[in-house]
Amino acid sequence: MTAHGGEAEVRAATDADIDPILALWGQAGMPADTDEARDDLARTRAHDTGLVLVAELDERVVGTVTGSWDGRRGWIMRLAVEPPARRRGVASALVAEVEARLRARGATQVNLLVFAENRDALAFWRECGYRSMAPVVLLTRRVDDPSA
Ligand SMILES: CC(C)(COP(=O)(O)OP(=O)(O)OC[C@H]1O[C@@H](n2cnc3c(N)ncnc32)[C@H](O)[C@@H]1OP(=O)(O)O)[C@@H](O)C(=O)NCCC(=O)NCCS
Repeated sequence: MTAHGGEAEVRAATDADIDPILALWGQAGMPADTDEARDDLARTRAHDTGLVLVAELDERVVGTVTGSWDGRRGWIMRLAVEPPARRRGVASALVAEVEARLRARGATQVNLLVFAENRDALAFWRECGYRSMAPVVLLTRRVDDPSA
């Protein structure tokens, strides 16, 4: 299924989109150039192929987003649009489609995390209707390394 949002066409990623997605992550400063990033993407797609999306402009992949559904909440991650394609509604189209897919899985609320200094992203998410909750602290720990 392909969705049209403005000029962009949004669809589920295929195997052929893996390298373009990793390139978009890299351009957006997200970890991308490692086997772990490639494995993460493969695992996410294996879990639910319909929630890793790409957006095309002129038949070229210029944006991507990943959704996840944990049975209670929807989450949006890894939203990235290549710099020359920004401010043309690509991210808005990706978000509209991933929200629709999360809703179809049962989500009534969608959360996401943004670095506080990422002003561009905060402005974008505000425009999409997302609001900050009371300050929360993100805690994390690697559980694949007992010494960590
Ligand atoms: C944030 C990002 C995904 C936005 O992508 P985009 O395709 O340019 O977004 P859209 O064109 O759909 O923007 C929709 C609206 O959001 C707001 N917006 C988007 N980028 C903005 C920016 N840099 N500054 C202020 N407002 C912005 C505007 O209101 C915009 O509408 P307008 O262009 O008519 O003014 C893109 O800048 C990006 O990839 N950044 C690097 C990666 C990143 O930070 N990802 C988010 C991690 S949480």
